[in-house]
Amino acid sequence: MSNEARRFHVAVVGATGAVGQTMLAILAERNFPISKLTLLASERSAGQQVDFEGDKITIQDLATFDPAGVEIALFSAGGGISKEFAPKFAAAGAVVIDNSSTFRYDDDVPLVVSEVNPEAARNRPRGIIANPNCSTMQLMPVLAPIHREYGIERINIATYQSVSGAGQTGMEELGKQTAQLLGFQEIEPKKFPMQIAFNLIPHIDEFLDNGFTKEEMKLVWETRKILGDDSI
Ligand SMILES: NC(=O)c1ccc[n+]([C@@H]2O[C@H](COP(=O)([O-])OP(=O)(O)OC[C@H]3O[C@@H](n4cnc5c(N)ncnc54)[C@H](OP(=O)(O)O)[C@@H]3O)[C@@H](O)[C@H]2O)c1
Repeated sequence: MSNEARRFHVAVVGATGAVGQTMLAILAERNFPISKLTLLASERSAGQQVDFEGDKITIQDLATFDPAGVEIALFSAGGGISKEFAPKFAAAGAVVIDNSSTFRYDDDVPLVVSEVNPEAARNRPRGIIANPNCSTMQLMPVLAPIHREYGIERINIATYQSVSGAGQTGMEELGKQTAQLLGFQEIEPKKFPMQIAFNLIPHIDEFLDNGFTKEEMKLVWETRKILGDDSI
């Protein structure tokens, strides 16, 4: 029997985005055992080349890509794309790890933080594993041991989120407005509803009927699911 470690055909969906680029950097940094790396985005970026560990990999158009043979698919191209394409990749045999909020609250999709509930990833009836919102994700390793030991009833959380949470176009708007304002020029907000350079907007995502925003409620819903306790 060969001692060679198993390697995987990995696909990154949304490979040109802020999250996709970070995923690629981490796959390289961790020396993840990859036999083949497939990079996917929209037709806008198809044909572009991306460097990965010295190799040039051509971005392919997700819409026309056949997922047969992909073993692990990392999805980070927005909820609508996950909803349409993640089931197709799973049906073709891939384990899908989805970064959007599309499947997070479905009972038959595990919501996993690897340091907290890794065992949940084994039970994935739809072939999809969701990961939580970035704020929930980093809180869980800290809160889970406290909850296990003492039980948590209530958590007061304040987050200060960077514009990178709004993706590549968010970061570009911050850079552009900063340069314009320092050059005494007019700015024209596009991605954010108002000036973002030298500013802080106390609002992310839409308001819900209970007066909280969806971004705030994600913390509540996801914490309960990951810690397995609806009373928090
Ligand atoms: N940024 C964060 O901190 C964060 C945190 C948690 C979760 N997420 C999730 O990750 C997603 C991506 O975030 P991001 O910050 O990386 O956004 P982004 O910088 O705007 O990148 C979006 C990516 O999706 C691709 N894409 C867009 N439309 C597509 C289509 N029709 N078909 C195939 N690919 C398409 C884009 O490809 P093109 O180059 O072709 O446009 C790009 O690679 C978010 O929508 C969210 O679901 C983000």
